[in-house]
Amino acid sequence: MAVVCYFYMSMLKGKKILLGITASIAAYKSILLVRLLIKAGAEVKVVMTPASKEFVAPLTLSTLSKNPVLYNISDEDTWANHVMLGRWADVMLIAPCSANTLAKMAKGLCDNLLQAVYLSATCPVAICPAMDEDMWHHPATKRNLEVIQSDGVKVMPAEFGELASGLIGEGRMPEPESIARYLQEQFFRTKELEGKKAVVTAGPTYEAIDPVRFIGNHSSGKMGIAIAEELYLRGAAVELVLGPTENTTTLLGISVTKVKSASDMHTTVLGKLPGTDVIIMSAAVADYAPASPSKEKIKKNEDTLTLNLVKTTDILKTVGAIKKGHQLLVGFALETNEGHEAARDKLKAKNADMIVLNSLLDPGAGFGKDTNKITIFTKDGGELSFLEKSKIAVATDIVDLILTKLK
Ligand code: CTP
Repeated sequence: MAVVCYFYMSMLKGKKILLGITASIAAYKSILLVRLLIKAGAEVKVVMTPASKEFVAPLTLSTLSKNPVLYNISDEDTWANHVMLGRWADVMLIAPCSANTLAKMAKGLCDNLLQAVYLSATCPVAICPAMDEDMWHHPATKRNLEVIQSDGVKVMPAEFGELASGLIGEGRMPEPESIARYLQEQFFRTKELEGKKAVVTAGPTYEAIDPVRFIGNHSSGKMGIAIAEELYLRGAAVELVLGPTENTTTLLGISVTKVKSASDMHTTVLGKLPGTDVIIMSAAVADYAPASPSKEKIKKNEDTLTLNLVKTTDILKTVGAIKKGHQLLVGFALETNEGHEAARDKLKAKNADMIVLNSLLDPGAGFGKDTNKITIFTKDGGELSFLEKSKIAVATDIVDLILTKLK
């Protein structure tokens, strides 16, 4: 399943992150992580275990973090003030965290600077374990993880994939983008939409022709996923109703319901409506579906094949007809022409509060792209045109406008 970094790292701006690095081959990813965090505007200080210097050079990390890298409790006459480091940081993240460091954390040992910083840290602590699969599944590792979690440490789950041993299995440290996203999700969500619930539809729908074929479209779901992530990171509870696409979100707090057809999506959305404040329909729902899908694979016995299609339920229109006064409904319009008139018509016909128009005439807009160019039409007659931007930035614009409407 592909996971793309869809949201801005803006929540990391100005945050103080103390990165602990331990002896694991995954330490090479810490270099990229430091670079990513610095690019996002965070302040980063690095503390290493002595053994981790075999894997990555302190010089690389101090250059990228723009801060000295610490690994000794004392150097000649100077003593590293581990207490102040733990007080300086908003978050201490140990990535990668080896089985050895994990065990020391569970026992409360203090035989190196990293352990001393961990034991004296007053900020929240998170770890990204990285080890070979057999070590990851060892009962001692499981026990140690339980102990540190009960001590309040957050554990980002190790991933499945190729390991240093050459084996494929669990124990891999996630990629830097996923780790940065995890930090934002766990520690830096804002509260603008706290207490609000949002339902977002995204992706295509597949309408079965027979057990092996379907009618679908090129929607990647990227725009809707970006909106769901933006809403969630700004405090909302988010239900993402996702059609068949390989893209998804790694934000653990977003509830994802996978659906296939327009009919599945319709039923799922209606089930989630009660208690919802914002409904955003960015899915490219099929307008027509085969009237009676064949139960058996259709054989190519004839020279022509005629499919009888029937209209699917218009989910946006259905929701528009039943929505309560406080519920804000946002629809999308994808047009192959300029589309302003069609978007305004859709606003009325579907009783939506906002219609987000994107036109396939714009080279930076459309299916599968990482950019979009939108115009938003609002119920009160407003029309706001935006420049071509990344889908992440477009999601921010949409959520900004939703916030003003909710107020
Ligand atoms: N939509 C929906 N249910 C459908 C079809 C579309 O909820 N069965 C929603 C989409 O999620 C989108 C909006 O309707 O938010 C616009 O979809 P679009 O296909 O562009 O417009 P239609 O209303 O279907 O009109 P047309 O295809 O004629 O332009």
